[in-house]
Amino acid sequence: MHADNAALPLPDLHEGSVAITGASAGIGAALALALARPGITLHLTGRNLERLRSVGDACAARGARTIVRTLDVRNAAAQVTWLSGIGRLDLVIANAGIGAGSDDRRPERSAQVREVFATNLEGALNTALPALEIMQGQAPDGSGLRGRIATIASIAGFVPGPGAASYCAAKAALDRWTIATAPFAANMGVQMTSVCPGYVRTPMTAANRFPMPGLMEADRAASIILRGIARGDRRLAFPWWVAGLAQIVGNLPPRLSTWLLSRPPGKAGLSQQ
Ligand SMILES: NC(=O)c1ccc[n+]([C@@H]2O[C@H](COP(=O)([O-])OP(=O)(O)OC[C@H]3O[C@@H](n4cnc5c(N)ncnc54)[C@H](OP(=O)(O)O)[C@@H]3O)[C@@H](O)[C@H]2O)c1
Repeated sequence: MHADNAALPLPDLHEGSVAITGASAGIGAALALALARPGITLHLTGRNLERLRSVGDACAARGARTIVRTLDVRNAAAQVTWLSGIGRLDLVIANAGIGAGSDDRRPERSAQVREVFATNLEGALNTALPALEIMQGQAPDGSGLRGRIATIASIAGFVPGPGAASYCAAKAALDRWTIATAPFAANMGVQMTSVCPGYVRTPMTAANRFPMPGLMEADRAASIILRGIARGDRRLAFPWWVAGLAQIVGNLPPRLSTWLLSRPPGKAGLSQQ
């Protein structure tokens, strides 16, 4: 984890409060580190206390006030209790997620499908919905915003990858919900951004045994994400060329797109990210 936090990409957050789910590893940990500095309070959650503590300690070493808490995003009531107990929320990042695929050319097991939807879609909603509710009641900050919410979807949501059906579908739903909600949230002073990364080097992608076009380091992804949130992007899909390719493939007739996405090498090469 080598996030460069020399320049804060969110100028209004010099004294802000940020909540990040899934901060014990990967992109969530890189986001926390990129934001960490004196004046910022980071509320970090995940399920693994040891890894959370290690990220929290690294953020504290950079001068941030850091509060870590084990929490499963699938527990809707616990998410409400956590977020409503923080006080002012300047930025909430619904990042926690799991990767899943099927390698044997059979439909995913039903338990896996349900777990992916429960974590990657409902878990993100369990974070974003209470945040939206809380932020509407907050006073505007210096830039006129009552708060910012980012959901971490994926470029995988642009394609129907047979090797990662539930992952692609959950991310597509999260992306579409965020973008469709954003205009009305903006009316209430809350900014929403759907973040759709391509392949990022994290524990999630470490097991992938296929080529990952455009693979980037987590600290670079974190810096792109925070700049996109600062700009107020409605959707931030990167790298642009992987996103563009995925959009094209995703808009092909279903038999053609699923055939392309099932071809070796890489089977669901555009869909397991
Ligand atoms: N890596 C990529 O290429 C890529 C590309 C596009 C989008 N994404 C998305 O980016 C997000 C982060 O992915 P990553 O690559 O950083 O994955 P990762 O390295 O596996 O980290 C996932 C994080 O989510 C947490 N998590 C998983 N299930 C959870 C649950 N039920 N409750 C609370 N926390 C949970 C994990 O913490 P614990 O294990 O401690 O619970 C961990 O902190 C995910 O939503 C992923 O789908 C990743």
